[in-house]
Amino acid sequence: QPNSLQDSWGRQFRYLRLSLTDVCNMRCTYCLPDGYQRTHNEQFLTSAEVTNIVRAFARLGTRKIRLTGGEPSLRQDLPQIIEDCKATSGITQVAVTTNGLKLARLLDDWKAAGLDQINISVDSLTADSFALITGHDRLSQLLGDIDQALADQWTLKVNAVLLRGQNDRELPAFLNWLRDRPLTLRFIELMRTNDNADYYQQHHLRGAVWMQQLMQQGWQELPRSEDSGPAREFWHPNYAGRIGFILPYAPSFCASCNRLRVSARGDLHLCLFTEQGHSLRDLLQSPEQLPQLQQRLQQLLHLKAEQHPLLLEQSGGNRHFAAIGG
Ligand code: GTP
Ligand code: 5AD
Ligand code: SF4
Repeated sequence: QPNSLQDSWGRQFRYLRLSLTDVCNMRCTYCLPDGYQRTHNEQFLTSAEVTNIVRAFARLGTRKIRLTGGEPSLRQDLPQIIEDCKATSGITQVAVTTNGLKLARLLDDWKAAGLDQINISVDSLTADSFALITGHDRLSQLLGDIDQALADQWTLKVNAVLLRGQNDRELPAFLNWLRDRPLTLRFIELMRTNDNADYYQQHHLRGAVWMQQLMQQGWQELPRSEDSGPAREFWHPNYAGRIGFILPYAPSFCASCNRLRVSARGDLHLCLFTEQGHSLRDLLQSPEQLPQLQQRLQQLLHLKAEQHPLLLEQSGGNRHFAAIGG
C-alpha cells in the first residue's frame, strides 16, 4: 500500500513513540542508576524537526503519537510540540509518558495544548521502596498529583515495573489503591538492557504469576483493539481501575507489534531492542524533504524482524531505555 507503514510480516504501524530527550531527572535503579551524564553536544531534535517527523508518519497512516524521553517534561517546548502534533492532519491521539515529578505544574499547559493521555511511572506504593527505586522521596506528592489529575478528568495509565525484593509483595496494596481510581495500572516485566544485566538477574520476576492470581480473583481479560498498546488488560466489577500486564518475554508478544520509535537524536528504531537506529536526520531539515523521508521510512520498514532478540534470551542492544523512550 502506497500510503502506509507495513512490514514484511504484514503488521501495520500506526503508533509512533517519539523521544524528545535522553535527559532524566530521576535515577531509577533498573534504568539510569548512575543518572544521566549531560554532554555538551546533545543536539536533540528541534521542534521543527519533530514537526517534520510527525507529518511524514501521519501521511503514512500513523494515528497516535506518544512523546517520551528520558523525561519529556524537561523540554520547555513540550506544550508547543503537543499542540503541533495535535494540529497534524491524521493524528488523533497524543500522549505523554512521564515520571510525574513535574506533573502538577504542567497539567494545565498540557490540557491547553490538547494532550489526550498521560502514562506515569509509580513502581511502588511504599514510600521507602519508591525512594530506593527512583532516588526521590516523592511518593506522597506524586500520588496526590495523580488524584488531582483524575479529578480533572485526565485519562491516566500508571506503570509499575515488577521487581523481586522491592515491590513483589505489593499486589494487595496496588489493588486497594485501584478500587476507587478509574485508571489503568500496568505491571511491566523488567527488561534486560546492556546496562542492567546483573540487576536483571537479581530482580526479574515473571508477571504471569500475578496475572494468574488476579484471574482466580475474578479479573477478566478485555479484548484487544487494533491500536492497543502492548498490555493485556483486565477488569473486575468491584474495581474502578483496570489492570494491564506487559509481558515482553511472552512468546507471542511481538505478533501484535504496532509501534515504531524515533530517538531524541532522530534515529528510527524498528524495535525497542534493535542494535542500532537508522538516522533520519538529513531528511528532517525542510518540509520539502517529506516525500523522501516517507520513502526512506517505508524502505527501512522492510528490515524489521519478526521478533525482538530478547525472546532468544540475548541481551538487548540498548544501554538503557532513557535513550529510546522505552
Ligand atoms: P499505551 O499506548 O497507553 O498502552 O502505552 P504504552 O504501554 O505503549 O506506553 P508506555 O510508555 O507507558 O510504556 C509502558 C512500557 O511498555 C514501557 O516499559 C515500554 O518500554 C514497554 N513497551 C512499550 N512498547 C513496547 C514494545 O514494543 N516492546 C517492548 N519490549 N516493550 C514495550
Ligand atoms: N524494563 C521494564 N520497564 C522499564 N522502564 C524503563 N526501563 C525499563 C526496563 N529495563 C519503564 C519505566 C516507565 C516506562 C516508560 O518504561 O518504568 O514506566
Ligand atoms: Fe526512571 Fe524513566 Fe527516568 Fe529511566 S527515564 S530513570 S525509568 S523516570
